[in-house]
Amino acid sequence: MRLHGKTALITGAARGIGLEFARAYIAEGATVALADINAEAVARAAESLGPQALAVQMDVTRQDSIEAGFASAIARMGKLDILINNAALFSAAPIVEITRADYERLFSVNVAGTLFCLQAAARHMIARGQGGRIINMASQAGRRGEGLVAVYCATKAAVISLTQSAGLDLIKHRINVNAIAPGVVDGEHWDGVDAFFARHENKVPGQKKREVGAAVPYGRMGTAQDLIGMAIFLATPESDYIVAQCFGVDGGNWMA
Ligand SMILES: NC(=O)c1ccc[n+]([C@@H]2O[C@H](COP(=O)([O-])OP(=O)(O)OC[C@H]3O[C@@H](n4cnc5c(N)ncnc54)[C@H](O)[C@@H]3O)[C@@H](O)[C@H]2O)c1
Repeated sequence: MRLHGKTALITGAARGIGLEFARAYIAEGATVALADINAEAVARAAESLGPQALAVQMDVTRQDSIEAGFASAIARMGKLDILINNAALFSAAPIVEITRADYERLFSVNVAGTLFCLQAAARHMIARGQGGRIINMASQAGRRGEGLVAVYCATKAAVISLTQSAGLDLIKHRINVNAIAPGVVDGEHWDGVDAFFARHENKVPGQKKREVGAAVPYGRMGTAQDLIGMAIFLATPESDYIVAQCFGVDGGNWMA
């Protein structure tokens, strides 16, 4: 039980990678607040994980919602040791079709949401004086541009940058801030991406997924399970001396 007695808040945990992280942390002995904008889905998700899970309705784009969500989670769990900034939106469009509304929507969730959740966690951790762990979900998309994915790529580049600055500022409080950069991870999120490319590149449904999976040096798309080892490692004392880093967990995809 590598996280026995620890408490964590995971944003965007109603489904996908965030939900699997919550399941894995609980299996390692942690108590986890699953936070998501989708109140019904996050209540169902927390219910499915048993008594060490609690649901928090939180919209990471609203400061009042962040503050209420963290206050409620900390009151119910007694403290917060670990934050995983996982909530994010994806969109894709050719450069000439990007709208200001879409740009603002993505930056509001992926960048401002990450920063102000990180800030809420850091304020609590500093006041408590026992350090903490903050893990930001970046992406291979933050390390290079993609022709049809400019806005999402830019948000994830910003997440990597915020990880570096926050990592440097907060380590004096023994708060380690690091990031994980997945490659292509199968799940509901990628069902939507596949549907987008089916429209924009005249592909049949499922074709884009098969193509991206075959192009990964490891030989397949990733799964949430592939990311769990890093998410646990970054929350344990083994990673005490790791500060402000972003780790690719992508089957070699970005390097290729
Ligand atoms: N799936 C991939 O291929 C992939 C690749 C690289 C990085 N990532 C990153 O990993 C993380 C998880 O990805 P996923 O595939 O599980 O995503 P997902 O779309 O399946 O889940 C995202 C969750 O965030 C929630 N959410 C959206 N807006 C919110 C808001 N304003 N406030 C609170 N919650 C909100 C959604 O309700 C949803 O439950 C994201 O940061 C994503 O960018 C995913």
